[in-house]
Amino acid sequence: MPVVLIGPMGAGKTRIGSRLAREVGAPFVDTDQRIVERYGPIEEIFAREGEPYFRVIEREVVAEALREEAVVALGGGAVLDPDTQDDLATLPVVLLRVDEAAVAPRLAGGTRPLIADGGLDRWRGILAERLPIYEALADIDLDTSRRPVARIVAEITGRL
Ligand code: S3P
Repeated sequence: MPVVLIGPMGAGKTRIGSRLAREVGAPFVDTDQRIVERYGPIEEIFAREGEPYFRVIEREVVAEALREEAVVALGGGAVLDPDTQDDLATLPVVLLRVDEAAVAPRLAGGTRPLIADGGLDRWRGILAERLPIYEALADIDLDTSRRPVARIVAEITGRL
C-alpha cells in the first residue's frame, strides 16, 4: 500500500517524500516528476494544452502511482480529482502544511504556472480553496515550516 503526501505547492512534498522513502525502504514516486518524464515540462503542458488537459494526464499518472508500493508525492492540485479523492479515502495520507513566511523563499524563482502571475497572493487563494479537501483526506497533518526534514520524517514514521 502506498503512503501518500499531499499539500500545497512549496510544502516540501518532494523533499520530505524522498527522505521518507529512503527511511522506510520504499521507492519514491513524485507524480509531477513522472509527468515531466513522459510529457515534458509542466509549464509547457499548461501553456500548450491548458490546465484541463494537465489534470487529465495527472489523474492517469496518479492512478498508476497509487497502485504501487511506494511513497507517493502528489502535485498540489491532484486532490481536486474526484476519483483521486475516492482512492485516497482508503490510503494513509499525510498532509504537509507550510506557512507563508516559510513558503515565500521556496516559491521564489520557480516555474509553477498557476502562480506565475500573482505569486504569494495567488498561492494563498489556491490554498484557501483546497484546504477543506486536504483536511478531509489527511490521516496525519504536519506543519513543515522551519522544522528540519529529519524531524518531520521521524514524526511521520512514528505515526504510520
Ligand atoms: C500544481 C502544483 C504543482 C504542479 C502543477 C500544478 C497545483 O505541483 O502539479 O504546477 O495545482 O497546485 P507541486 O505541488 O509539487 O508544486
